[in-house]
Amino acid sequence: MASARVGQWRSSARIVSCVLVALLTCTLRCSEGVKLSNIILILTDDQDVEMGGMTPMKKTKELIGDAGVTFSNAFTATPLCCPSRSSILTGKYPHNHLVRNNSISGNCSSTAWQKEAEPFAFPVYLNKLRYQTFYGGKYLNQYGSKDAGGVAHVPPGWDQWHALVGNSKYYNYTLSVNGKEEKHGDNYEKDYLTDLVLNQSLHFLEERSPNHPFFMMLCPPSPHSPWTAAPQYQQSFSDVKAPHDGSFNMPGKDKHWLLRQPANPMLNSSIEYLDNAYRRRWQTLLSVDDMVEQLINKLDSIKELNNTYIFYTSDHGYHTGQFSLPIDKRQLYEFDIRIPLLVRGPGIKPKQTLQSPVLNIDLSMTILDIAGVNLSTVSMDGQSFLPQMAPSLRNGTERPFFLIEYTGEGNSSEDPSCPKLGPGLAECFPDCVCEDAFNNTYACVRTLKDANLQYCEFADNESFVEVYNLTSDPHQLENIVKKVDPALLQIMNQRLIKLESCTGDSCRNVK
Ligand SMILES: *[C@@H]1O[C@H](CO)[C@@H](O)[C@H](O)[C@H]1NC(C)=O
Ligand SMILES: *[C@@H]1O[C@H](CO)[C@@H](O)[C@H](O)[C@H]1NC(C)=O
Ligand SMILES: *[C@@H]1O[C@H](CO)[C@@H](O)[C@H](O)[C@H]1NC(C)=O
Ligand SMILES: *[C@@H]1O[C@H](CO)[C@@H](O)[C@H](O)[C@H]1NC(C)=O
Ligand SMILES: *[C@@H]1O[C@H](CO)[C@@H](O)[C@H](O)[C@H]1NC(C)=O
Ligand SMILES: *[C@@H]1O[C@H](CO)[C@@H](O)[C@H](O)[C@H]1NC(C)=O
Ligand SMILES: *[C@@H]1O[C@H](CO)[C@@H](O)[C@H](O)[C@H]1NC(C)=O
Ligand SMILES: *[C@@H]1O[C@H](CO)[C@@H](O)[C@H](O)[C@H]1NC(C)=O
Ligand SMILES: *[C@@H]1O[C@H](CO)[C@@H](O)[C@H](O)[C@H]1NC(C)=O
Ligand SMILES: *[C@@H]1O[C@H](CO)[C@@H](O)[C@H](O)[C@H]1NC(C)=O
Ligand SMILES: *[C@@H]1O[C@H](CO)[C@@H](O)[C@H](O)[C@H]1NC(C)=O
Ligand SMILES: *[C@@H]1O[C@H](CO)[C@@H](O)[C@H](O)[C@H]1NC(C)=O
Repeated sequence: MASARVGQWRSSARIVSCVLVALLTCTLRCSEGVKLSNIILILTDDQDVEMGGMTPMKKTKELIGDAGVTFSNAFTATPLCCPSRSSILTGKYPHNHLVRNNSISGNCSSTAWQKEAEPFAFPVYLNKLRYQTFYGGKYLNQYGSKDAGGVAHVPPGWDQWHALVGNSKYYNYTLSVNGKEEKHGDNYEKDYLTDLVLNQSLHFLEERSPNHPFFMMLCPPSPHSPWTAAPQYQQSFSDVKAPHDGSFNMPGKDKHWLLRQPANPMLNSSIEYLDNAYRRRWQTLLSVDDMVEQLINKLDSIKELNNTYIFYTSDHGYHTGQFSLPIDKRQLYEFDIRIPLLVRGPGIKPKQTLQSPVLNIDLSMTILDIAGVNLSTVSMDGQSFLPQMAPSLRNGTERPFFLIEYTGEGNSSEDPSCPKLGPGLAECFPDCVCEDAFNNTYACVRTLKDANLQYCEFADNESFVEVYNLTSDPHQLENIVKKVDPALLQIMNQRLIKLESCTGDSCRNVK
């Protein structure tokens, strides 16, 4: 076992050196001595786009969206924090980066991840191209655990590392500051994490060398629980409630096992709980909106704004009451798999809305494309969407279909506060409605271009299949598996099989 791992590790090191040789053969702009563009990636935690998650972000929509492009069909490859963030970093589907869930045993920031995947994350490539790199905020849910090297583990590729230990929090957290532990309390002026990430990033911009480009990845905890708003925003949106339309409070009657369990209609206490969560989520986003404004003001004042690409996105979506599920992510439906994606930067015309389907595994390839990396030398599943954003800079076609895959989380012991439920379930709060189970494990193929269809297969003991026609049924109220032409089911099943085992080019060119 140990020697097999060492062997794998050595072959990985060989791949790295090949890639680096290829990287030195840089594109035109670089060989002409023109300074490469700076890049910033802002990644929020749990921010939906489908349920109104971008509505409170007025300044972000104006300063990034109106100044560039808003993607109306952006998706995560998997709707859970750690696997999704791992997809963003590696440009790979979960079946290739092997991060299955938010636990160390599921490879979330595990030592195996640190050896096999993290050394090939896109920031490593940027750093080799002499980008000055900065990380601030939430990283992977298990980052900093004792079992995974603690705060001393600083992933390769980062010059400045200010990462949160564990899952999102706003106060009373620990950071790894370049490998050293830094504890924070709950004084707003000193500790509010969203503001701290901004302040540290501004400091990095002041200290950087103007001779080389920079890359910053800013990952505020908002709008993740515990939804702690800054003091000045705690009274905001006092009348706001979750949207009570579409699939809100509808039964999941023709859906997979987990969706057939919740009480319908929901208990009033569940509705109160989710409306409160919805309002507080929006409040926490106001600090992110301020972050975007201050960052852009700073870039302007140091005269880097017109040479900087800014990406704004989230790790996955979120639901509040859809199909009678109170609050969470983890489902295959639009509200959980769609993400916000706004981008501005050189060559991107302002005020564009693009329908091209893009995935979070495409972010790394797009960023490396901007940095002039020869993408044929990079082993990732995603594809650059620079051609769609800036056709004057690149030619390229969009992908025909894509994969969404998810491994359900469960607990082998039963939840003591919900003894009627039995083992195998997880996230049974509020009111003992469970949002996940080991058998909430599925893979879906999604098409958008010729037909707006979703086809999903479950790894449960009903081998359950769900099919939606999103043209006629945008809220996915009706599973049409029994109505649809069997020939179409067969085509979708074949595509799914190919995608579930794809790597690199075979993920981009499924027929
Ligand atoms: C975790 O990753 C390692 C190496 O990347 C792999 O061998 C192992 O199977 C993965 N674990 C799971 C649960 O997928
Ligand atoms: C932070 O921790 C202190 C000490 O344990 C506690 O009194 C305080 O309520 C905590 N603050 C927050 C916002 O959780
Ligand atoms: C961030 O900087 C601003 C301006 O200097 C300051 O008012 C604020 O207290 C700082 N916040 C944190 C959390 O460091
Ligand atoms: C739940 O709320 C509805 C609408 O506000 C109300 O009509 C109903 O009586 C409430 N039910 C309970 C059990 O409180
Ligand atoms: C940015 O603006 C400055 C002047 O304001 C100009 O000299 C420079 O060429 C511009 N850079 C780009 C990439 O447009
Ligand atoms: C990119 O890399 C591929 C594979 O190594 C090579 O065949 C191709 O010539 C390179 N393209 C450029 C523009 O350097
Ligand atoms: C795109 O392709 C066309 C036709 O082959 C070519 O004329 C054009 O220069 C290409 N544009 C870019 C940005 O590569
Ligand atoms: C995470 O994945 C591992 C490996 O498959 C599994 O043993 C563990 O039970 C999973 N954790 C949860 C909470 O489902
Ligand atoms: C599983 O449930 C037990 C009992 O509630 C709890 O102590 C344990 O932390 C749970 N495990 C996970 C991985 O959530
Ligand atoms: C899913 O798992 C639960 C909990 O283990 C079990 O009760 C249920 O029968 C399973 N359903 C299917 C369809 O596999
Ligand atoms: C379905 O799966 C669950 C665990 O996920 C198991 O407890 C149950 O016995 C299975 N039922 C059948 C009919 O196989
Ligand atoms: C989906 O719905 C549209 C609009 O009603 C219809 O034209 C199309 O044939 C449907 N597709 C399938 C596969 O049912």
